[in-house]
Amino acid sequence: MRIVVTGRRGQIVTALRERADDACVLLSAGRPELDLARPSSIAQTLIDLRPRIIIHAAAYTMVDKAEAEADVAMRVNADGAAAVAEAAQRIGASLLYLSTDYVFDGHLERPYREEDPTAPMNMYGRSKLAGEKRVAAACEDSVILRTAWIYSPFGSNFVRTMLRLGEARCEVGVVDDQRGNPTSALDAADAILAIAMRMAQDSSRELRGIFHMTAATEASWADIASEVFLQAERLGRSPVAVRRIATHEYPTAATRPANSRLDCSKLKDIYGVALPGWRGSLIECVTRLLRAAPTQNADV
Ligand SMILES: NC(=O)c1ccc[n+]([C@@H]2O[C@H](COP(=O)([O-])OP(=O)(O)OC[C@H]3O[C@@H](n4cnc5c(N)ncnc54)[C@H](OP(=O)(O)O)[C@@H]3O)[C@@H](O)[C@H]2O)c1
Repeated sequence: MRIVVTGRRGQIVTALRERADDACVLLSAGRPELDLARPSSIAQTLIDLRPRIIIHAAAYTMVDKAEAEADVAMRVNADGAAAVAEAAQRIGASLLYLSTDYVFDGHLERPYREEDPTAPMNMYGRSKLAGEKRVAAACEDSVILRTAWIYSPFGSNFVRTMLRLGEARCEVGVVDDQRGNPTSALDAADAILAIAMRMAQDSSRELRGIFHMTAATEASWADIASEVFLQAERLGRSPVAVRRIATHEYPTAATRPANSRLDCSKLKDIYGVALPGWRGSLIECVTRLLRAAPTQNADV
């Protein structure tokens, strides 16, 4: 089966490339040929690649910078997504659109379900929500997959940042009052491919629409940092302590929800797809990152 994924070096596109097996031909489409900031570049690029499935993983993902670049974020995440969805509809391809927990304001006291009201707190969340709406309106054969807190051995992410900070410091202050589901891009890739295969075989309405897709277990940023430093220490790094701080002690341009947890039971019930807990998956990520950038006292 021919699958086209948008983006070149992003975490999800790289993980998909690693996890795709012989059951599919996975092609990526990205800049300069397909530039989401230039929606006119999108349709012909996708038509030429003749996909059965399009995974729209590329996006403007700089959450803080988006506050000052609202027009670019909207153009890429809403207009760009709409152009991808219109092309999918024209080609007759099924579309998976990656979205985010940041479509919610985090005020609920339980994990968010798909039908809970959206109310983004930041520009990135608003642009991704606009993308969701444009995708749903333009392409009937689409799935919107909201995921969260992605980490991987590729690109920039929280785990890599913690390992870098831990090289130079013996203590790091990390926010402890935001909770979410830290999700391995590799686990997400396995799930996305399983969903894509099923979409290609079965056009039932219940398999289309919005689904939440994150790791099965939850954490605060400080919990993840503690586990990263523990695993790194086991692999030969010096110990690093985590000082648990409140959100207001680490001001950022974009406001983030305190509760980012997503309830993924709909995905499990309808697709039979569930991601593992985050701690087990983190081991592979930390091991690979340390192996790629060994330090003097790392013995891996
Ligand atoms: N990271 C997270 O924690 C997280 C959480 C929730 C949802 N998501 C969503 O999941 C998806 C994948 O995220 P990710 O972590 O893999 O993202 P990422 O690592 O930040 O990569 C972003 C990707 O988007 C591409 N891109 C950015 N601007 C583009 C443009 N104008 N034209 C074409 N491509 C462009 C980049 O292209 P290059 O390869 O050329 O650099 C890159 O491949 C995104 O839709 C994101 O919104 C991510």
